[in-house]
Amino acid sequence: MKTSSLILALTLVASTQIMKAEEGNSLLERQMKILAKGTRQLSQQVTDTAQQQSSIDLIEKLKKAVQDSKSIDPRMVETIPAADKAKFLTDYRAQMDMLSDAFTKIEDAVKAGNYAKAKSLLSSVNAIKREGHEKFKQD
Ligand code: HEM
Repeated sequence: MKTSSLILALTLVASTQIMKAEEGNSLLERQMKILAKGTRQLSQQVTDTAQQQSSIDLIEKLKKAVQDSKSIDPRMVETIPAADKAKFLTDYRAQMDMLSDAFTKIEDAVKAGNYAKAKSLLSSVNAIKREGHEKFKQD
């Protein structure tokens, strides 16, 4: 009886952990999809003067997705030794802040009507993304 209760308890703990991991993962992937679709759209319209307000609204949406992503732990955290987890998550959040700052710079350029500058700043987003995936995305 005691053994079966223990097995039941362990099974419950294990399935809760799996559910937590899956939930966190799908939530982050959902935000990443917003980022992927939004940055693609932004690169298509950012130099279009007629779409200035639309681009500003889009960048606001992207910045919200970055803030939401920042509060979700990436799947890879499960593979990091306990002693290194805090630094890993601090670095992850700092990378998200870099992305947010890059979007703010692009937004400022769009607001100032400096569309060519906004377009060229978009390449910095790709570099931050690449570095973020190298460091924090599991294969
Ligand atoms: C505009 C920039 C970015 C774009 C367009 C982007 C796009 C994506 C895409 C398309 C995925 C795959 C989602 C799926 O399979 O459903 C993904 C996953 C992921 N991205 Fe990004 N990403 C960006 C920036 C970043 C940054 C800056 C970081 C880290 C600070 C990051 C961390 C991750 C992680 C960790 C995953 C895997 C999900 C998980 O571990 O739960 N991404 N990203």
